[in-house]
This record gives sequence, C-alpha cells and structure tokens, in this order.
Amino acid sequence: MATLLHILAHPHPEASQTTRISNAFLEAYRAAHPGDTVEEVSLFQEPVSYLSATHLAAMSKHEHPDTMTPEEAGAWQEILGYLDLFCAADNYLVTAPMWNLGVPAVLKAYIDQILQPGYTFRYTGPGMAEGLCIGKHMVIISSRGGVYSMPVMREMEMCVRYLRAIFGFIGIEIVDELVAEGLAIVGARQQDEILTPLLARAGELGRTFDGREFKQAA
Ligand SMILES: Cc1cc2nc3c(=O)[nH]c(=O)nc-3n(C[C@H](O)[C@H](O)[C@H](O)COP(=O)(O)O)c2cc1C
Repeated sequence: MATLLHILAHPHPEASQTTRISNAFLEAYRAAHPGDTVEEVSLFQEPVSYLSATHLAAMSKHEHPDTMTPEEAGAWQEILGYLDLFCAADNYLVTAPMWNLGVPAVLKAYIDQILQPGYTFRYTGPGMAEGLCIGKHMVIISSRGGVYSMPVMREMEMCVRYLRAIFGFIGIEIVDELVAEGLAIVGARQQDEILTPLLARAGELGRTFDGREFKQAA
C-alpha cells in the first residue's frame, strides 16, 4: 500500500482549470489504487510561514534542540510537521498554476520548509549534495495563460522547470508533467480543445501511475 501526497497550490481549487486536470488524475488514481492512501496538503489553507530569522536559527540548532529558544523550538516544530507528511509519502502529485512566470509564493514557502539537510537531501562535500528522497515519484500538473513551450519563451517558464529542478535535486523522479497552456489567449471553446486531451491523459496517468512498480524496477 502506497501513500500519494497531493501538494495543492491553488486558492480556489473548485474553480480552477489546473485542478480540473488534477481531479481527473486523482479520480482515476483512487479507482485504480483502492488500497492506497491519498493525503493532501492544501497550501492556501495552511499557515505556511516564510522562513524567518527564527526558522534559520532553529535550522542551525536542530541537532541540539536544548539550545533553542521557545520561539525557535516552535519554528522547528512547524518544519518537522511539514517534513513528517512529506517524507512519509511514497509518491507525489503537485498542482500549481503559473503565477508571474513561477510558482505561487506559498508553494515556494512550503519548499523552503521541506528542503532540510539530513531529511530530504544531504551535503556530500564542499558545494556537493545528494537527494535523500530516493525511489519516490512525482507528477506535476500546471496551467498557464500564455504559451511558453516555444523556444523563444522557454527560458521565461520558471514554474514547471523550477519544480522539476528542486524536486529532482532531492532525489524524486519526475515521471510526467501535464501542462495546459495558452488558456488566456483563446476563447472558451478553444480552452476546452486544450483541456480535453489533457484530461484524458490525466485519467490514463492516474490509472497507470504506480510508484511501487517503478521502485521494483530501480
Ligand atoms: C496572480 C497570477 C499571475 C499569473 N501569471 C501568469 C504568468 O506569468 N504567465 C502566464 O502565462 N499566466 C499567468 N497567469 C494566468 C494563469 O497561469 C492561468 O490562468 C492558469 O491557467 C491558471 O488557471 P487556474 O487558476 O484556473 O487554475 C497568472 C494568473 C494569476 C492569478
């Protein structure tokens, strides 16, 4: 039995094109994997803190918790809470629209909480590190108003590319990405034309996404 963690970065998922695709994935995943657990961290419902001076002090003292102030101990507990849920998962689904070329700020804040040496990655030498989230797999689902898949725009795309880079850094294998783009520059009918094949792909991926098989193959 595996645990899939859905990292949801949308403030109103009930009226979102991005979450329409995720919901198609999740519906198919649940039907195909009835014994699995699906956890969700809905970031806009969470009081995810931006890393503060207190968090940084707590991070530097975490091996000696008795030296932390009460505020630092509280900040470390917040980090551990997010880490516990993240590290307990076998596989991940990230739902994130493009906002201002990147990810919604709350997702960046969450990533800052869970990128902890000794937990999700470790330093192996000066300037060198390796991921500790080995054997785990991720699907990224995103959408954007413009079109960034053409060479001239590709470098401006820092949402999916960032997610691939940062989760790849901690050792997670990105199995697939489903991205609806150009949604703001077409009418409603063309939006459906963009979304329909992605919804079908999301359903297929939800049915076939199985980290256990990937793990055995590794
Ligand atoms: C705050 C904000 C910033 C955005 N920035 C961009 C952007 O930089 N590039 C882009 O193509 N679309 C941008 N968009 C449009 C969304 O990416 C687009 O509407 C996407 O399909 C999200 O859909 P959803 O909110 O229905 O899930 C932005 C939307 C919002 C609300």
